[in-house]
Amino acid sequence: MCGIIGYTGVRPAAPLLLEGLGRLAYRGYDSAGIAVLADGGRIVRCRAEGKLARLLEKCQGGAEIPGTAGIGHTRWATHGAPLEHNAHPHLDGGGRVAVVHNGIIENWRELRRELAGEGYTFSSETDTEVIVHLLARAVAAGRTPAEALRDTVGRLRGTYALGVIFACEPEVLYGVRRESPLLVGRGDGEMFLASDIPAILPYTRLVWEPPTDTIVRLTPRGVTLPFPGDAPAFREVTWDAAAAERGGYASFMEKEIHEIPQVVAHTATEGEALLPPSLAGNVTGVTFIGCGSAYHVGLAGAYFGEKLTGVPVRVFVASEFRYHPVPLAPRELVVAVSQSGETADTLAALREAKRRGAYVLSVVNVVGSTIARESDRVFYTQAGPEIAVATTKAFCAQLVAVYRLFAEIATAKRGRAVGAEVLSGLAKVPDAVRRVLDGREGIRRMAHRIAQAESAFFIGRGADYPACLEGSLKLKEISYLHAEAYPAGELKHGTISLVTAGVPVIALATQSALVGKTLSGVEEVHARGAEVYLITDETLTADAPTAARFVLPHIHEMLMPLPAAVAFELLALEVAAERELDPDMPRNLAKSVTVE
Ligand code: G6P
Repeated sequence: MCGIIGYTGVRPAAPLLLEGLGRLAYRGYDSAGIAVLADGGRIVRCRAEGKLARLLEKCQGGAEIPGTAGIGHTRWATHGAPLEHNAHPHLDGGGRVAVVHNGIIENWRELRRELAGEGYTFSSETDTEVIVHLLARAVAAGRTPAEALRDTVGRLRGTYALGVIFACEPEVLYGVRRESPLLVGRGDGEMFLASDIPAILPYTRLVWEPPTDTIVRLTPRGVTLPFPGDAPAFREVTWDAAAAERGGYASFMEKEIHEIPQVVAHTATEGEALLPPSLAGNVTGVTFIGCGSAYHVGLAGAYFGEKLTGVPVRVFVASEFRYHPVPLAPRELVVAVSQSGETADTLAALREAKRRGAYVLSVVNVVGSTIARESDRVFYTQAGPEIAVATTKAFCAQLVAVYRLFAEIATAKRGRAVGAEVLSGLAKVPDAVRRVLDGREGIRRMAHRIAQAESAFFIGRGADYPACLEGSLKLKEISYLHAEAYPAGELKHGTISLVTAGVPVIALATQSALVGKTLSGVEEVHARGAEVYLITDETLTADAPTAARFVLPHIHEMLMPLPAAVAFELLALEVAAERELDPDMPRNLAKSVTVE
């Protein structure tokens, strides 16, 4: 996500802020900027899109910007393309106030309408800019900066961490947060504000996270609370910088897996409809294109979508689709799924679909990416930047988006109740995922044995099958253990010749009508000496000879690939740990494959 740093002290602020932004870069960003309180009550701002090197060049390393207090930001676009005019800090027209913001303001549209109606002009497409004008309006009306900030956050809905400076208060920095992280750091004659510990770790190890909605006022001499609140309680950070970047987790992949409950809750409820309602009711078929895990999202969506909507769904690996002239029906919807929005094959397949007259919806994580720009319509999964090469949280967010898509089509075609059932099912996913995470010890025990093997097989039927494909891909990607996934009925048509004593077979059985069938497959491999690891739904009775079991919390049956995928992600992570491999940087793999 975006990063915030703020400073007030005795050193020149600009170079320090720029350095801090460098330490936030690992979080992923697409533009950056700083604003400094210069002499004479001026705010000097410098912003640039793209890499930090461009910002450094533009403001000459900060050397020419006078002032010892300021704020800085790395932006990862959510509202408005990743261009300079959308980069933070945002300033009001009169240059009286500058703001950096992480999070999403849900009611920005109505606030923007209100402010525009009063003559305020906007210079960005961000949700953040409304905050600047609300603050400027309050100050112009005679409020103190602290009062202006209190009034303003009272108008905001959503999540935020804010760093604010006012031209009328030299040396002073304000901060406030709701759900998004924000820390105050205490140094010797200097104070810091940061969204993340690594930004300030070289300067101080004393940090305090203010409670939600507590406004903090920083000067070089310390922190005060302009309104009643709990006294600051600073703690000492004992992590090193690398561990701090990972939020204390051993790897980014582990951190990102733990973000899934929050991410899926967000994707399930935020953002606009995936399709305009007029179109949702007219869809005659859906064709998915994607690569790797994004392809698996389409496969899972097909099982779910056809059942729910009755509309035929096809799924293509993008690199195949681009050279395979499949007939596209009139009003067929093509859905391009891509975390990065830059995968070359998916982009080429999208262009091919458009050339043939299809309406293309993309489900993308990176705002402003090429696939997003070239689609007729885009839905952003807003999973935050994903650092680990093997996708985890973005995969889950994509799956949620696809469930939402079919809920919309079902609502348009079959009535509100059908779609509503899916949405209420999705509301249970975050808790289900949390319970899977809590059960990690059981997965670790399985991983301990599986890690000794040379190859493993995943079997499942119906919606379990695409989840198995994803589980097998995860295991291959980060643990280098040879793995394959099969529909449980298909293994015996050839591949069972590879199942000998001790070979792990991971069976996923969450679909009530098919559990018996999958268990027959389990019996077949067990009879040949396989070690069976059964992953099933807590409400299903599954009698089978197994080496170990893992029980998933029960949610809507068609949504079970979500908790199953998380269990498989943990399994891959644990096997990689057993094999002493770095899960974040698997050999030969790239996060975004931008060549054919
Ligand atoms: C690479 C990544 C995979 C990802 C695939 C598609 O192979 O390593 O994790 O699933 O690309 O990427 P995309 O950005 O289009 O979702």
